[in-house]
Amino acid sequence: MGGIFGAVSRSGGNVVPLVVTGLERLKYRGTDNSGIAVAREGRLEVYKDTGPIDVVARKLGLDKLQGSVALGHTRYATHGRPTAENAHPHVDCGRRLAVVGDGSISNYEELKDKVLLNGHRLTSRSDFEVVAHVLEEAFREGRAPEALPGVLSEKLQGFFAVAFLDASTGSIYAATTGPQLFLGASRELFLVSTSKYAMHGFAERYREVRRGEVVRVSSEGVEVYTGAGVGGLGELQPLHLDPSLVEKNGYKHHMLREIYEVPESLMRTLSSVQKKYLQLAARLVTGADNVYIIANGTSLHAGMVASYYFSELVGVNPVVVSAAEFPLYYLENIGPGSLVLAISQSGETGDVLSSLYEAKLRGATILGITNYVGSRLARLSNLYLPIAAGPELAVPATKTFTSTLLLLYLVALRASRQEGRIDEDTLNSKLAAVAEAARQLGEWLPKVDSEASKAANEVSECRGGYVVSRGLTYPLALEGALKLKEASYFHAEGVEAGEFKHGPFVLVEKGFGVVFVVPVEKVSAEATYPLVGMALEAGAKVVAVGFAGDQSLEALSEKGAAVVAAPPAERHLAPIVLAVPLQLLAYRLGERLSRPIDSPRYLTKAVTQ
Ligand code: F6R
Repeated sequence: MGGIFGAVSRSGGNVVPLVVTGLERLKYRGTDNSGIAVAREGRLEVYKDTGPIDVVARKLGLDKLQGSVALGHTRYATHGRPTAENAHPHVDCGRRLAVVGDGSISNYEELKDKVLLNGHRLTSRSDFEVVAHVLEEAFREGRAPEALPGVLSEKLQGFFAVAFLDASTGSIYAATTGPQLFLGASRELFLVSTSKYAMHGFAERYREVRRGEVVRVSSEGVEVYTGAGVGGLGELQPLHLDPSLVEKNGYKHHMLREIYEVPESLMRTLSSVQKKYLQLAARLVTGADNVYIIANGTSLHAGMVASYYFSELVGVNPVVVSAAEFPLYYLENIGPGSLVLAISQSGETGDVLSSLYEAKLRGATILGITNYVGSRLARLSNLYLPIAAGPELAVPATKTFTSTLLLLYLVALRASRQEGRIDEDTLNSKLAAVAEAARQLGEWLPKVDSEASKAANEVSECRGGYVVSRGLTYPLALEGALKLKEASYFHAEGVEAGEFKHGPFVLVEKGFGVVFVVPVEKVSAEATYPLVGMALEAGAKVVAVGFAGDQSLEALSEKGAAVVAAPPAERHLAPIVLAVPLQLLAYRLGERLSRPIDSPRYLTKAVTQ
């Protein structure tokens, strides 16, 4: 993930300080690397290093840098570790173009081979470096700028926004295939950025850059290239923003921002994982004598869902165990044929790392799943897959959970294909269903949020509660309860629906809350509905979470349950899609109860010891 901020002065003034300010405001998008390119007298100057922009600016003396055209970037490492070489901007061989990007180029591996064969020099492991060389060829062949929309859509695949500075003309170009990208204007400036909030105070008007457009800004004005020809700036809206929300991109808390980023994060995960590595990961799963999934907290819940995926789609039944428990009784059976699949968002969780050292000593192969490619988990793994959700700043994990689930689902699908359990068409239709579910979720989020707020009000007086589900969504019951505890200090317990009558039901009465996540298996759902009736009869406040259009969900609403409905999706995607209403419920309850949502007491983002 990256944050982009570019500026062009219309009067030749110095824009470097405001690009630095813009990058500071984009820090929530990552601070592993920062960089800035300026064009001066037709020549490109690039300054970049590791660390946040303030550190890099001090180190490289950016306060002395001048330029009336500048393009900056702040990076969260997804492709290539957080080293100075992998920092953006990336330049072409002729040092005419400086490229920055957000998102991933999913055909990076193929493109890399092609540009190398064409004689280009690559100096990094960043996917956006190949973009600089693809663009260099387009400029050299005289296909720019008119043909750029076609060049971008034909050559580059993935979910990304890209901007580049052409030093020879002092122009900045920008385009997107999905991530938000904005164009801003004032009497003095033209701006491009991944956030309109970052433009606060600099731009008076703005608009979103649309898919298929390539926007070019220079001191002379704005040109917008589409496959159909060249147009002007287009219609702009006034930019009126609440300045107190600038650092969180318009949200009151990071947790809320990160929940609203879930649909986009799913697309990032989908486009970032390279097929080659997914195939290797799938081979490791199917080729192992035994598979252990180890993780903690939310990542452990993701691992539990993965065991359902692997069991059904691949015929592999992994042992899922807390990384704290793993070294106690499981190491005995670990050997050279074992695969340990370790999941850790931070990649720095102490129990995960110490378990891995032990497993490695016994010859196990380590498959790491992490959101931080610079982590020790990534370094310890024989193969790691990046979650690619971008930085998560709130302690309660949200978008990293849903993206981890997706990544594990992708591994299971790929393994299923390798084993001949599903054919290529089925695989492709399942991948298309993921993109569609992400799109729908994006559209539905405000509605889901408002229903979650109402449900939070319903349970806000309760002294505690259960989150109940069964089957594929059972781990969600555990995860929903964990989110309620963290974000709202609401004591909740996750219960497997079949266990409800084996004890937990005893506490259900007036003043108690029960959240039912409607199971996706018909048989599990049928076994669960009577429990909802029982909880309502016992006087509990009941919340039902499920797919919209499910008639039984409507029946539960008539019986008195507060319903939070998510857009319907394929059964396997239920844990991903239905996680969001639970996250919003926890967030809205925390907000109502005035909890310190982003930083709950005693908790840290990474439990390193
Ligand atoms: C819950 C949460 C924690 C983490 C756990 C593992 O919202 O954030 O339960 O999931 O500490 O962290 P990672 O995934 O970094 O190993």
